Amino acid sequence: MTTKTDLDSIVDSAREAFAQAATPAELENAKAQYTGKAGRITELMKGMAALSVDEKKTRGAAINSAKQAIEAALNERRQALADAELEIQLKAEALDVTLPGRVREPGGLHPVSITIERIEQIFASMGFDVTDGPEIESDWHSFTSLNNPPNHPARSMQDTFYVDINGDDGIPYNLRPHTSPMQVRYAHAHIKKFAQRVKAGETLPEIRVIVPGRTYRVDSDATHSPMFHQCEGLWLGENVSFKDLKVIFTDFCRKFFESDDLTLRFRPSFFPFTEPSAEIDIQFASGPLAGKWLEVAGSGQVHPQVVRNMGLDPERFIGFAFGMGADRLAMLRYGVNDLRLFFEGDVRFLRQFR
Ligand code: PHE
Repeated sequence: MTTKTDLDSIVDSAREAFAQAATPAELENAKAQYTGKAGRITELMKGMAALSVDEKKTRGAAINSAKQAIEAALNERRQALADAELEIQLKAEALDVTLPGRVREPGGLHPVSITIERIEQIFASMGFDVTDGPEIESDWHSFTSLNNPPNHPARSMQDTFYVDINGDDGIPYNLRPHTSPMQVRYAHAHIKKFAQRVKAGETLPEIRVIVPGRTYRVDSDATHSPMFHQCEGLWLGENVSFKDLKVIFTDFCRKFFESDDLTLRFRPSFFPFTEPSAEIDIQFASGPLAGKWLEVAGSGQVHPQVVRNMGLDPERFIGFAFGMGADRLAMLRYGVNDLRLFFEGDVRFLRQFR
């Protein structure tokens, strides 16, 4: 007959077996050996049939409490295994919330693009049309139409790159060395646009346009890049003068640099397509650039031969043109001293303009 001590040792061995179970499956197997259908407790219960009523009472109570102790041990171990499993899972999925996130940085406009947009806005507010033109140009548009015939020494002012394809004139196409070819192109388009109205007796509306864009020259140092940006301006009408150029250009510079503290100077110069011609210099009264004359554009009264090449009568149409260095203006506005920084694509530099 099993004694109470035997029950205790069954409980002890159950606890031992449960403790040794390393997984929930092992634990359930261990459990079956005690409280399962053929388990040791179950066997003891079956053995009670032969006992007297009194014996059944005491024996039954003892077996029951042993069974409860085993079940308590079982549940405890089940919980412990579940906790351990959760712990492992949490560790495996651990997130270090102190690590910096992987940020996708917002992009931004290039400082030269910002500058060109600014130029466009200011001139548009003064009634100028804004357009663009081809970067691969014919010899005629880049030079000859601008009163700069083949073999003229003035061509060397604008030494550019040539494409391996000849135009109709047998001369290779060039990467335009300035935006000035758009003077004649735009005038032709403008005349065409208003041709019907002119035929009907109306006068041709004034030409007032700016043309920003990429330009090319064989040049490379801290202030020259083989590819750079210009913005052409053209104002042509029946009564437009150098005085108007001075007024609008002064107005433009003051708006562009957000300063009334600057002075303009027209310094005599030469371009084949303007007569007279002038470089436009500006000088700030205060700030880091104070006192220095800074060249920002070439300009002049459109040459009669160019007006003729536009298909207009130079006796009637007169006006001025200018070509500004857009990169130059960006450098002055942002205080950048090396032009090449704009074109190296270093995000540490570009990020500052976002
Ligand atoms: N095209 C000239 C240059 O690139 C600038 C200019 C434009 C001068 C228009 C006069 C008139 O230097």
